[in-house]
Amino acid sequence: MRQSSLVVVANRLPLDDNIAPDGACEWRRSPGGLAGALHAILEQTPATWVGWPGAIGEAARLPDLGTLRLRPMSLTDDELRGYYEGFANSTLWPLYHDAVEPPVFDRGWWESYRSVNRRFAEAAAEVAEPGATVWVQDYHLQLVPQLLRELRPDVVIGFFLHVPFPPPELFMQLPRRIELLRGMLGADLVGFQRPQAAHNVAQLATKLLGAHGADDAITLDGRVIRTGAFPVSIDVAEMRSLSARPYVVGQAHRLRHDLGSHKRVLLSVDRLDYTKGIEHRLTAYSELLRDGRIKVRDAVMVQVAVPSRERVENYRGLRDRIEREVGRINGEYGRVGEPAIHYLNQPFDRADLAALYQTADVMVVTPLRDGMNLVAKEFVAARRDDTGALVLSEFAGAAAELEDAFLVNPHDVDGLKETLLHALAADPAELATRMKAMRDHITTHDIHAWARAYLTELELARPLLS
Ligand code: ADP
Ligand code: F6P
Repeated sequence: MRQSSLVVVANRLPLDDNIAPDGACEWRRSPGGLAGALHAILEQTPATWVGWPGAIGEAARLPDLGTLRLRPMSLTDDELRGYYEGFANSTLWPLYHDAVEPPVFDRGWWESYRSVNRRFAEAAAEVAEPGATVWVQDYHLQLVPQLLRELRPDVVIGFFLHVPFPPPELFMQLPRRIELLRGMLGADLVGFQRPQAAHNVAQLATKLLGAHGADDAITLDGRVIRTGAFPVSIDVAEMRSLSARPYVVGQAHRLRHDLGSHKRVLLSVDRLDYTKGIEHRLTAYSELLRDGRIKVRDAVMVQVAVPSRERVENYRGLRDRIEREVGRINGEYGRVGEPAIHYLNQPFDRADLAALYQTADVMVVTPLRDGMNLVAKEFVAARRDDTGALVLSEFAGAAAELEDAFLVNPHDVDGLKETLLHALAADPAELATRMKAMRDHITTHDIHAWARAYLTELELARPLLS
């Protein structure tokens, strides 16, 4: 394969291998924020993306996406269980999200995590041209920076963590904490969503590695590793132009009509993940119905929950609980032809998502912990006027930027109920002021600004080679 001057290394490729109903193999956009965000900036950049196309076994040859070359990595079923579903998504994912579900420490998974990280590092080393920039993404590949540095000391290495980095007392629980910290600090620049994460890593590097740690740089083994916060964003222009398409506008009208033109629409869009606070939200909504403070004849909830990590036990259990609860709420409060909640456990294409965002009166985004939450930003970008309210968890990275949302602590169900009512009853002038401020913010802080800021800083961090 030809070499590139910019190489992105992420667990997932931006395309997902999907089996169509007729058994044929088709490609569609990968789920989740990371793939969408990076795809937007790389589409027109000569670069190579090393990643997994989402199926088990030998990876098929993939077409280029414009100027972006795709280097597919295959995963065996054992690797999928040990590396992806195991160490990445049953150990690191819950631990990094405040342990809202208990992390599992299974000693069998580490070897798999390490060997898959090694294969990703080798693939990156193979496709990086001399002096290239290699940008490694997220918790799945935390060992890659150090492994790659050993293979290719000539390249500049960036690492960006899309999820939160936990407080030291939680990170200290990890049996492999030293390897994971050293792995990440193999980079020249380590980027996070929030400044607190850089602070946590500086403290841990000092304590565990004997490094000299400050919030913007860590000195380890004579090397300086820069750190900092670079809040990720979305392609605002793309979402805006999508939202103005006649199909999307027409679809939004159709949806409004089908949901009941006179009704207030509460919308949530999540991967079906226990960090997203879906159960807390359902409890709040159901209690408002029970207490008669929201009536089915006046309001309806739409919960989109795209399937995610379905072989992981916690995710299966969550899906069962959510589906039972939706059934219970509809059974108790719905009327013939008039459900209290529409529950959609399916992927949507971007145009239909944009139409849904336009349909909502109140967008309800209540993660218990989230690195950023791009759905909140997509909602703001998709609105074509100054209507609509955003109820947003304080524990999403996005809350630090979208301060004009109706901020809420989702653990406080009574507070959540009051905030939902407040947002539903808000004065249009207040909503307009809030929406304008949020729109202004995301317009200047879009995905292109994020990539520019990160890559400029990474260039400054490039070690001077003799
Ligand atoms: P995470 O990265 O944890 O999944 P984010 O909110 O940052 O959370 O990103 C989720 C991304 O997945 C958004 O870009 C959103 O549009 C997309 N998404 C969410 N639900 C669906 C769905 N049902 N179909 C297609 N894409 C979805
Ligand atoms: O945002 C965190 C993240 O793990 C991303 O890396 C990914 O885009 C998204 O969640 C979806 O998860 P998965 O790749 O496991 O489907």
